[in-house]
Amino acid sequence: MLVLVDAGNAASAPTFRKDIAPILFERCGGCHRPGDIAPFSVMDYKSVRPWAKAIRQSVVSRKMPPWFADPKVGHWANDARLSEREIAAIQTWVDGGAAEGSGSVPQPPRQVEGWHLGQPDIVIDIGEDYQVTPGEDAYEHFVVRTNFAEGKWIRAAEIRPGNRQVVHHVHVLLVSEDPRQMEVASTSNMPSLQQYLLKEGKLSRIRKDAPVWNDGCATDTPALPFLTGAQEGGLAAFLPGRPPDVFPDGSAKWIPPGAKLEFVIHYARISGKPQRDRTSVGLYLAPGKPGRALRRMDLRNFFMQIPAGAANHEVRRCYEFEADRMLLSFTPHMHYRGKDVKYEVVRPDGRRETLLWVPKYDFNWQLVYRLRDPVLVEKGSRLIVTAHYDNSVNNAANPDPKEVVRWGDKSEEEMMTSWIEYLER
Ligand code: HEC
Repeated sequence: MLVLVDAGNAASAPTFRKDIAPILFERCGGCHRPGDIAPFSVMDYKSVRPWAKAIRQSVVSRKMPPWFADPKVGHWANDARLSEREIAAIQTWVDGGAAEGSGSVPQPPRQVEGWHLGQPDIVIDIGEDYQVTPGEDAYEHFVVRTNFAEGKWIRAAEIRPGNRQVVHHVHVLLVSEDPRQMEVASTSNMPSLQQYLLKEGKLSRIRKDAPVWNDGCATDTPALPFLTGAQEGGLAAFLPGRPPDVFPDGSAKWIPPGAKLEFVIHYARISGKPQRDRTSVGLYLAPGKPGRALRRMDLRNFFMQIPAGAANHEVRRCYEFEADRMLLSFTPHMHYRGKDVKYEVVRPDGRRETLLWVPKYDFNWQLVYRLRDPVLVEKGSRLIVTAHYDNSVNNAANPDPKEVVRWGDKSEEEMMTSWIEYLER
């Protein structure tokens, strides 16, 4: 019998110190580090070793790092996908016994205590030590004054959860009493929508008897609130896996004088003792008036309705650009029944182009897709957002396939929202 001993390979087999740590630090360390959202740290061999098999499995299946854009469409500045070479290295390392190896360990990336972006110029918090009660999910809205007598240009905003054990995600929205300053993103500031809403405590949803309209791109789309046009006012977001909002060089966001900030916080269900939270947002001032104003438009369809059991229900939203714009990023938002979503643009000359295609949407990961190169859309171009929902028994995340589902704040209801960052040109 011939026994093959591959001595040459053994000598060059990948080790943690030499080959694997650099990959894990760079590609996983943003979340897999002490005190962050992931279940274990990749920052040292001792913590990694027990997870070696799971790590192999998670990278081969591309479950980790989380990333959902189809690689054949578009180029992304924050593309999280591992290269084939990185996956092969991890595979070989684990199959060969996941050795630590010798030699020096690469320097782990510097871990910043508190603010990732450094000390902010201005910090505004929710204004109270909010008590989170065990046993239920909660969505809370906190409206606080900026007391800015003059408007301010900001170059970045970072949300800092007051208590990471309970804060699942946070949006900070600008609320201005002056309608000329902006159309706001918060539903509490949409008077024309109120007649269609039902309030349950602090949660809103569309009334069952509100008109139904799934195709916001149809030529006969009725004049229902926010089915056309766009709202603005989103300032910053804290979502699982999302880095702080830093605006590109030469651009900044405007906070109008007298604006208020509305914090919308989702507190995850906890057990045990009540917890306290005091979440804040750090604002970083721009050196002056920027060359370009960065804005975020929100496109939504509040009038969608998913039939019970429907496996591939389509909902659309369209937007026609009234001026030339440079698109910077897309953040699609749906709930448990969200299945896929596509962003296309139709140019004034009729050319149709896909900008982003998310073939398998996952509610657990509210990712932002930042374009590597901003995309110019000319005046008169039309953006088409097409989403599908799976309300069938085949969707393991589906809370109840027997429900007819409409728009609502609760995760058990649905949304069809897109946040799109752009520069004026
Ligand atoms: C954007 C944040 C983020 C990044 C980046 C990330 N992870 Fe995770 N990872 C998580 C979170 C949160 C969980 C727990 C929830 C879950 O399993 O979905 C997790 C779970 C895991 C698990 C647990 C087992 C499993 O499959 O559920 C493994 C293994 C893992 N990650 C490996 C990795 C590796 C290896 C990388 C880098 C190549 C990586 N992760 C990058 C956030 C991240």
